[in-house]
Amino acid sequence: MTRIAHLSDLHFDRVDPVIVAALREEINADPPDLVVVSGDLTQRAHKEEYRSAGAFLRSLDAPVLAVPGNHDITYIHLLQRFVDPYQRWRRFVSREIEPVWRDDEVAVIGLNTARSFTPGFDWSKGRFGHTQLRRLRQRAEALPKELTRIVVAHHPLFAPEAEPDLDIVGRADQALECFRGLGVRLVLSGHLHRGYVHLVEHVEGAPQLTVVQASTATSTRLRGEPNAYHRLDVSKDGAIELEVRAWDGRQWRVVEKREQGARRNGFDKAPYSAPEVTEVALREKAPAGLG
Ligand SMILES: [Fe+2]
Repeated sequence: MTRIAHLSDLHFDRVDPVIVAALREEINADPPDLVVVSGDLTQRAHKEEYRSAGAFLRSLDAPVLAVPGNHDITYIHLLQRFVDPYQRWRRFVSREIEPVWRDDEVAVIGLNTARSFTPGFDWSKGRFGHTQLRRLRQRAEALPKELTRIVVAHHPLFAPEAEPDLDIVGRADQALECFRGLGVRLVLSGHLHRGYVHLVEHVEGAPQLTVVQASTATSTRLRGEPNAYHRLDVSKDGAIELEVRAWDGRQWRVVEKREQGARRNGFDKAPYSAPEVTEVALREKAPAGLG
């Protein structure tokens, strides 16, 4: 079995230091095989924010696979934005923008949906590229067929059911078609600071593709939900267990469990108790909009 912790939207240095310390303690008390971070490690891509984010990731007792989010490219230093947007990422986080991690059972592939410049397009929304999806196909086809495939990308492929008008990533349809063709089981994303699971319409004969959106793990900019992160257990036969752990103002607490069998469609939701959303957890409510 492969155990993964899925964090998103850390947003150093707009973080709650108590939550950061508790998250480090929680992960290191029971280290997973891999920590996935689905983007927005920083707030404004400042050097000090990158330094703090990098130090946090290195303090975790597990390998880390991270992809950039829109906040990880500077809006201020335009020369850097257009000439070398990932200079600080490579210096403080990883040499890779689209890393791949695998063990004997699972392959996790990172995709960068952040864009430094797209004419006539809102930079914050993110987009998949045609070349990027072609490269993904080549990489995935080179992997052993029996591996459970997981993709990590910052921007959402689907809006939450309760807020269908929120923006999704550009070229979401092409990306989904590509993922289905490659037998991808899970897409792990963030950006909206809202946690939800979307079951992609099932195609007969293909494995179920599910998109798992994480809330922000450590940011003080909340969207009406507490800070949260995910634990995923992926069994050798392809069965997946998802656990949502939310910050209740004092500690991390399991608030939701879902299971997806190796052959069954969809995630079965187990009964759970809703998190106690305390004043502490929601003391700074961010304005509506993108993460
Ligand atoms: Fe974002």
